[in-house]
Amino acid sequence: MTALPIAPPPRLLMGPGPITADPRVLRAMSAQLVGQYDPAMTGYMAETQELYRQVFRTRNDATLLVDGTSRAGIEAALVSLLRPGDRVLVPVFGRFGHLLVEIAQRAGAEVHTIETEWGTVFAPEQIEAAVREVRPAMLAVVHGDTSTTVAQPLEGLSHVCRELGVLFYTDVTATLGGNPVESDAWGLDAVSAGLQKCMGGPSGSAPLTLSPRAVEVIDSRRSIEAGIRDAESEVRSDPIRSNYLDLAMILDYWGPKRLNHHTEATTMLYGARECARILLEEGLDAAVDRHRLHGAAMLEGVRGLGLRPFGDLEHKMTNVVGVEIPEGVNGDAVRGELLEDYGIEIGTSFGPLHGRIWRIGTMGYNARRDAVLTTLAALEQVLRRAGAPVTAGGGTGAALDVYGAAA
Ligand SMILES: Cc1ncc(COP(=O)(O)O)c(C=O)c1O
Repeated sequence: MTALPIAPPPRLLMGPGPITADPRVLRAMSAQLVGQYDPAMTGYMAETQELYRQVFRTRNDATLLVDGTSRAGIEAALVSLLRPGDRVLVPVFGRFGHLLVEIAQRAGAEVHTIETEWGTVFAPEQIEAAVREVRPAMLAVVHGDTSTTVAQPLEGLSHVCRELGVLFYTDVTATLGGNPVESDAWGLDAVSAGLQKCMGGPSGSAPLTLSPRAVEVIDSRRSIEAGIRDAESEVRSDPIRSNYLDLAMILDYWGPKRLNHHTEATTMLYGARECARILLEEGLDAAVDRHRLHGAAMLEGVRGLGLRPFGDLEHKMTNVVGVEIPEGVNGDAVRGELLEDYGIEIGTSFGPLHGRIWRIGTMGYNARRDAVLTTLAALEQVLRRAGAPVTAGGGTGAALDVYGAAA
């Protein structure tokens, strides 16, 4: 077989992520490699740490990238912070809460859950009561669960965590850069993310930040692998149960020791650095406002077409809307036609919501007026051909009204 040079079809990615990457990020990622201890590279690493401190709104020294998709960041945090047998409490309100459960179980933790119907969130008092009852070593919560399009409020939970010595972890993969995320003000001990949503990049790098309390736990588990340790290095009989995702060793690699662990994924680092640089150039608050505006235009647009949005809209993430698939319409066929005829991708969902809702994203580079209007115009045509009773011009009209009111 002779493979041709890669030439992906033109697409407008309007699903729940990945989304179309910002061209500036792709440009940064085409820069030539440098060696991992080249002062230029260690300089980029230090800059990237500082940029992500600002993005996470934290003063945590321990702020770095985990090489891998968002799931690698989650797994690094859980496997490094949880000792086998530790209790962890996971409030589950969608697919990614189940993922936290699964990863914590595999780390050997004793997992306790509370659950609420998909599309809803917990009252903070419910979570606090569960923390008091379970007395876990860690509270692990997804911030915005993309599978259901709602975000769990996290303010006001840190006091119970501090009082009872509970580590507070959250996954902000789907919210960072497009919804308020306040690592220090919310008292978070470990926060992990990805690039492929509001950050406007590709998947493959997981920014992560750890509070001094979290670093203390990780330090107490440090065990340096043979081949790089010296006579003074710590060696433990019960090390963190992953080598690749061992945050003690990853911290040593990113810290002043520069102790070799993996080979930093240089191209992903260039991309992650550019995502943060672009976001901070725009301003975090301005980026959140932009996501709010285009998210509101898409929400009103789907309503204007006569479609029903899904879930608790008061807690809707700014950057994605769930849309109930109308009676008698084949959801996958509509998605297929949008892709084939218009080059536009929207998402389905998982588990109980598969076949029940579409998910339409307005995030990162695609949180833009033209992307919103094009998607609504195309959706109208495809729905009409599918026999759904859509309001002619209702989608783009309602979205334009939102833009008009905001102008
Ligand atoms: C909230 C959340 N967490 C975790 C993930 C997993 O990310 P990845 O596929 O990059 O590992 C996703 C992906 O959609 C997500 O939305």
